[in-house]
Amino acid sequence: MSVRILLAVADPDLAGEVTDLAREDPDLEIVQAAVDVGAVSAALGREAIDVVLLHEGIAPLPVMELARDLTTSFPNAAFVLLVEEAPPELLRSAIQAGARDVVTRPLSLDELRTSVNSAADLARATQTKLEGESAERVGGATIAVAGAKGGVGATTLATHLALSSAQAGRSTCLVDFDLQAGDVRGIFDIPQGRSLTDLIDVAAEVSGAQLMEALYRHESGLSILLSPEDGESAEEIGAERARGLMGAVKFAFEVVVIDLGTVVNDATAVAVELADEALVVTTPDVPALRAANRLLMLWKRLQVRDEQNTLTVLNRASRRSEVQPDLARRILLAPLLDTTVPADFRALEAAVNTGVPARLADGALRSALADLAVEMGLVEEQRQGRRSLLRSEAGQVTAELVGMTALITTVLLLLWQIALVGYTFVLADHAAREGARAMAVGEEAEAAALADVPGAWRDDTEVRTGDERVEVRMDVPVVVPGLSAPFALRAREGTVDEDG
Ligand SMILES: Nc1ncnc2c1ncn2[C@@H]1O[C@H](COP(=O)(O)OP(=O)(O)O)[C@@H](O)[C@H]1O
Ligand SMILES: [Mg+2]
Repeated sequence: MSVRILLAVADPDLAGEVTDLAREDPDLEIVQAAVDVGAVSAALGREAIDVVLLHEGIAPLPVMELARDLTTSFPNAAFVLLVEEAPPELLRSAIQAGARDVVTRPLSLDELRTSVNSAADLARATQTKLEGESAERVGGATIAVAGAKGGVGATTLATHLALSSAQAGRSTCLVDFDLQAGDVRGIFDIPQGRSLTDLIDVAAEVSGAQLMEALYRHESGLSILLSPEDGESAEEIGAERARGLMGAVKFAFEVVVIDLGTVVNDATAVAVELADEALVVTTPDVPALRAANRLLMLWKRLQVRDEQNTLTVLNRASRRSEVQPDLARRILLAPLLDTTVPADFRALEAAVNTGVPARLADGALRSALADLAVEMGLVEEQRQGRRSLLRSEAGQVTAELVGMTALITTVLLLLWQIALVGYTFVLADHAAREGARAMAVGEEAEAAALADVPGAWRDDTEVRTGDERVEVRMDVPVVVPGLSAPFALRAREGTVDEDG
């Protein structure tokens, strides 16, 4: 494999000299010669170049600065500086600028060959790495989630994987491919409307615009492609249509999470085949583990996916259950994820009942679902981020607690005040009656009325005696007996002068 060289030399004599030398080695191919900076970047943008032979006279810029710019902009190529003289300071700044080597004039073939070849090795290693990374990026991540059997939590896990990915800022689509029993609509409480039904006729060749029309966009940023409302149209989605749909969704989104349900049919088989990862959800009990293995074997027989390329995860795990992850790992034919999702119906309750999956109570289940997204490669592990999230949630809890306390205090004060009014009424009534009784037998009515009134009330009590009646006016205390009051209660009691 010959080394593709870009000659960046302004001086035509020097360029000719290097070209002649390179001709002597069939493995050195000078792809292009550039005489100024603009031509260098243009050639690098257009051609696949391994090594740039950069002469110090190429300026206007100081050559080191140019080298630094070019190495950052074109990491695919390696740079070799060609200089008249190479004092130690120059070597040092060349290394800092990212040059691979420095050669001086007069140039020998040997020197040129050695330097260019070692630079090319580095360039190729970088190219391979960058290609790998971009392939990963372009392919995005498509995760197909299947349940070993009904009710194990495939939809729950698929939903939370997709939400985590969307919340991490990646364009994400959740596809409900559980064609007969899809319940994503219910989980998000989405009204009737757009679904896969809209795409059935065009499925084999869905355009981006048609796909966008059929999607539901959730406030979390997640796009959702719902399963058909009726089971019959689901049957029309065969392998070819499924392939078209998968292609369109994968093209439009960075991350695609597909809820397959438990049924294996042509459509779901295609989805499993085209997905980057397939995840089988199971619970830690023998029937579910057996069902998981049956599904894995079925996929293998259908040649859609090998069990070693499939992942499994335990949902609704509990420390009390007989089957612990170690045992499950031995039973399952496919690798088991380290993350185990605990059983916690209470934590899910609010989320399930309100149709807002993100409303998950804090706790082990929530953090397991977050870990699952990390282990599946959808979300980067962000300890810092998570901690600060927790902190902000803690702040919210404190604020809610303060609000609650104020409310409770107000209610208690109100009840207390009602009790005070009631008690004042009883006191006034009793005082009036005592006063009237005393008056009836010719005793001092006022003294008798006040006799039983507690000290805190006495100062604010007025007793008036009239013709055959005693009236007691008592201020109602506010909150604390004795505190001045804006309103008063009156009690009247009539009497008959027994002597008369
Ligand atoms: N880890 C868990 N703990 C408690 N309940 C769960 C858990 N995972 C799922 N569930 C509940 O189990 C039921 C079935 O879950 P679902 O995700 O619909 O299963 P599937 O899609 O496999 O049929 C739902 O009511 C869901 O809320
Ligand atoms: Mg389901």
